Amino acid sequence: MPRTPEESRALFDHWARTYDLSLAGSDGPKAGPLAGYRASLLAAADRVPVAPGAAVLDVGIGTGALAELLAARGAALFGVDPSAEMLAVCGERHPAFTLEVGDFNQIPFAAARFDAVVSSFAFHEVPPAGRAAACAELARVLRPGGTLCLLDVMFASPASREEARAAIGEYWDDEEDYPLVGDLDALLYAAGLGATSWWQTAPFHWMVLARKPRGTA
Ligand SMILES: C[S@@+](CC[C@H](N)C(=O)[O-])C[C@H]1O[C@@H](n2cnc3c(N)ncnc32)[C@H](O)[C@@H]1O
Repeated sequence: MPRTPEESRALFDHWARTYDLSLAGSDGPKAGPLAGYRASLLAAADRVPVAPGAAVLDVGIGTGALAELLAARGAALFGVDPSAEMLAVCGERHPAFTLEVGDFNQIPFAAARFDAVVSSFAFHEVPPAGRAAACAELARVLRPGGTLCLLDVMFASPASREEARAAIGEYWDDEEDYPLVGDLDALLYAAGLGATSWWQTAPFHWMVLARKPRGTA
């Protein structure tokens, strides 16, 4: 059964200080759905168009793993996360980042504030009933012409999700409800985002780039 937002916050508050260490070896079978975590982050960071000085928001920033790669390219990083402990660790590692408590459904920044909005391995934490509103909120804070990048554990079809569950076995996480590519694509379109491109970055990971059209609010 998927965890509630309160259970999720408690999990990540508890995990914050050991999170990076526990993902450092995330390529073996015990990594479960996160296998290939680091390679997927690098693939996503490579594809996000970020100019030096660009304002970039990472939603579900955690300890800052994806944000760090974009900051290295000269972007100004902002982060949102519901877990105060994840934000505390992120702030210690990256004092230049601007960090706020928030979540996909309540992003505490003005409309059209960011050149790019990114997120890694966090969108699945939004319960399915809240995903349409979350996509609208992501679109709200993007400037017209800006780019959204979502990277997560995702599957192309229910069948591929079931195959993965069987392959991962005891390391599958029943508390997580991973999106299907087609479902998320439709939600992004309904939120007014277009020009979507999809890539599979690891056996259980997909990323999407989508653009907010120029001339929209
Ligand atoms: C698996 S961690 C990923 C952290 C980081 N982005 C990374 O790639 O390592 C999931 C993160 O999503 C955050 N999170 C949980 N629910 C969320 C929500 N509804 N909106 C935004 N972030 C959420 C958690 O607190 C946690 O920091």
